[in-house]
Amino acid sequence: MTGVDHPGSVEPNGVIGILGGGQLGRMLAMAAARLGLRTHVYCPDEYFPAADVAAAKTNASYTDENALATFAASVDVITYEFENVPVETVAFLLSVGACVRPGAMALEMAQDRLVEKEFVGGLGAATALFHAVNDLASLDAGLKKVGRPAILKTRRLGYDGKGQTRLTEADIDLHGAFEKAIEFAWAEVGAAPSILEGFVPFEREISIIGARGAEGDIRLYDPTENVHANGILKTSSVPAAVSEATAEIAGAVAANILNALDYVGVVGVEFFVLPGGAIVINEFAPRVHNSGHWTLDGCAVSQFEQHIRAVAGWPLGDPARHSDAVMENLIGDDVHAWRSMSEQKNACLHLYGKRDARAGRKMGHVTRLR
Ligand SMILES: Nc1ncnc2c1ncn2[C@@H]1O[C@H](COP(=O)(O)OP(=O)(O)O)[C@@H](O)[C@H]1O
Ligand SMILES: [Mg+2]
Repeated sequence: MTGVDHPGSVEPNGVIGILGGGQLGRMLAMAAARLGLRTHVYCPDEYFPAADVAAAKTNASYTDENALATFAASVDVITYEFENVPVETVAFLLSVGACVRPGAMALEMAQDRLVEKEFVGGLGAATALFHAVNDLASLDAGLKKVGRPAILKTRRLGYDGKGQTRLTEADIDLHGAFEKAIEFAWAEVGAAPSILEGFVPFEREISIIGARGAEGDIRLYDPTENVHANGILKTSSVPAAVSEATAEIAGAVAANILNALDYVGVVGVEFFVLPGGAIVINEFAPRVHNSGHWTLDGCAVSQFEQHIRAVAGWPLGDPARHSDAVMENLIGDDVHAWRSMSEQKNACLHLYGKRDARAGRKMGHVTRLR
């Protein structure tokens, strides 16, 4: 039932459709259930973590129009937990009358690192120097522009540091010649359309988890300080060791992105902080974000609940932090220590129900409250 005063709003007992069924979908489904909302998860994988906690599931590909149409007819609003859902999938869902939040524009901007950099740069945010790379000649030209060290990243489908390679003086020495080093780097990214970025000599990395409601209201969580190991997020801590001024600028960038995309839902925006406190935006994810997992235990309303509230057209909740917290990702074999972690004081353990603990796979997380 749709309220007269709040068009597009989903009442309790309504159904939220979620594209993608990983741990983010699982935690979204649990947050929805707490609010008396049901979820229907659509995922191409045969087994997926959200399946355990969703009221309904569809196991079909993102190009299966029959399955998509049936899914659309069974839900009140559709969202996604995976930023590589094909834009065509969202366009098809819209064509059959579905409401998709956030919309297709957020996906388009976030799926291509080059488009994303140009978009956030156009909003006035500082980015690393960058150059589009399509072949060895443009890689060579890019290195002249952005300098060394530099990072070469595929424009599409990279995550957790995959699809990227560094080009440093040491690499060039290792290969014996500059030409050999760039050939190697180009092969490393599969000779796919890429972006070359100048290396940002950051002091720390932070992120802002922000939300925009259906009526344009914005709520931001406190900046989170992030540490990566091998390209994968290892820990997220709050409070971040940044000044009020730095936090405010990062928050303003996140709000600009949300407004520019007429966004409804939660976004995760990653930044580099330079010595002195200036910030450089790295990238944004049009979804709930790993660096916001601490909000499950550190805030009255988590990023997952906030996202569900936004896409359901509900008032946004209070993002204030009630505890200091450190979230640690449990990657691969880390998860085998679940029993001892579950006994620690002030430790909040979250396991994602994945069957095998492959190397580099996010199996769960533990948030320690302070
Ligand atoms: N231009 C850069 N300068 C310095 N470090 C970088 C740069 N780009 C990426 N990194 C490092 O690599 C990590 C992963 O890169 P990122 O672009 O965020 O890709 P992913 O989509 O895999 O998260 C970043 O969090 C940061 O630690
Ligand atoms: Mg990243």
